Amino acid sequence: MKLNIALLPGDGIGPEISRAGVKVLDAVAKRFGHSFFYTEALIGAAAIDATGNPFPDSTYQICADADAVFFSAVGDLRFDSNPDATVRPEQGLLAMRKKLGLFANIRPVATFNCLLHLSPLRRELVEGADFICIRELTGGMYFGEKHEGDNEAYDTCVYTRGEIERILRVAYDYAGRRGKRLTVVDKANVLASSRLWRKVAKEMAPDYPDVATDFMYVDNAAMRMIQEPRFFDVMVTENTFGDILTDEASVVSGSMGLLPSASIGESTPVFEPIHGSWPQAAGKDIANPLAQILSGAMLLEHFGLQEEALAVREAVDASLEHFVRTPDIQPEGKPHYGTQAVGEWIASRILES
Ligand code: IPM
Ligand code: MG
Repeated sequence: MKLNIALLPGDGIGPEISRAGVKVLDAVAKRFGHSFFYTEALIGAAAIDATGNPFPDSTYQICADADAVFFSAVGDLRFDSNPDATVRPEQGLLAMRKKLGLFANIRPVATFNCLLHLSPLRRELVEGADFICIRELTGGMYFGEKHEGDNEAYDTCVYTRGEIERILRVAYDYAGRRGKRLTVVDKANVLASSRLWRKVAKEMAPDYPDVATDFMYVDNAAMRMIQEPRFFDVMVTENTFGDILTDEASVVSGSMGLLPSASIGESTPVFEPIHGSWPQAAGKDIANPLAQILSGAMLLEHFGLQEEALAVREAVDASLEHFVRTPDIQPEGKPHYGTQAVGEWIASRILES
């Protein structure tokens, strides 16, 4: 298969984990006889510095023309510490989501048996937890009407029936292919937008008779996720709730550096780690590349390359078992491996197996 991939390394640790991710995709291409071509483009602070725009038109064009986007991270301390900044790196990510129509963000939460001790939750709670959070990504407060005055400010949470239906269809499809349970997370006891979500979900549920639908308020879901993470199979929720719940979900697996994601919608799909740019670690070769590498596995699965994705997942498992790990997940006394060394080890494992 021939794939044109737009490569958006972004800021902070982004370029380093991107390089490791590409090494692994290249190993897959070599072993399975595929051709992956990359076109690199600017996003985030790197793009602001070069062009003044966190998502320049040239980057949009490269993404729109590609088969997939392999994105890493945006964010920079210079902007975080300046409340008056009018352009921010994060706006580049939001612009990409909106312009590519990426309305569904798929965030699988899985645990690795050999890393269970890293979770702050007790082993018997997290063992076997395996769920998917499907986050609506182009609506809600992130994109609703805003006003920012000195004495009053607001963000509006707007959802149309069409927006709710399309994300629920994605969620039902996933639930149908997995454990056949869908939890719709909302705040229908308070918010009008949530009540529309619930109404639409109740109307759609009979179309998916093999999936059991349940409803949960977001505050309760936040609690349930750490009390009984195994409860969930597929959960679907609006943009802001999904942002918050997926950071919480990363705690279940023990490290934010482990969780990949896919964003799909009307145009080119994007594959990206759920974590941020960790500017303090930039250039130090210590960032964990696994979330990026596993995002590569999701990319391969998206194009039906199941065997290839499995080869990546097996090589990742092997790296963990052989203690070829970055410092965030490496026990004391074991050797030091940097970002690139982990990427290289996984790439050669794929080539050998
Ligand atoms: C995420 C991030 C982004 C979001 C930020 C960087 C704008 O936290 O992808 O979860 O809030 O969506
Ligand atoms: Mg987030």
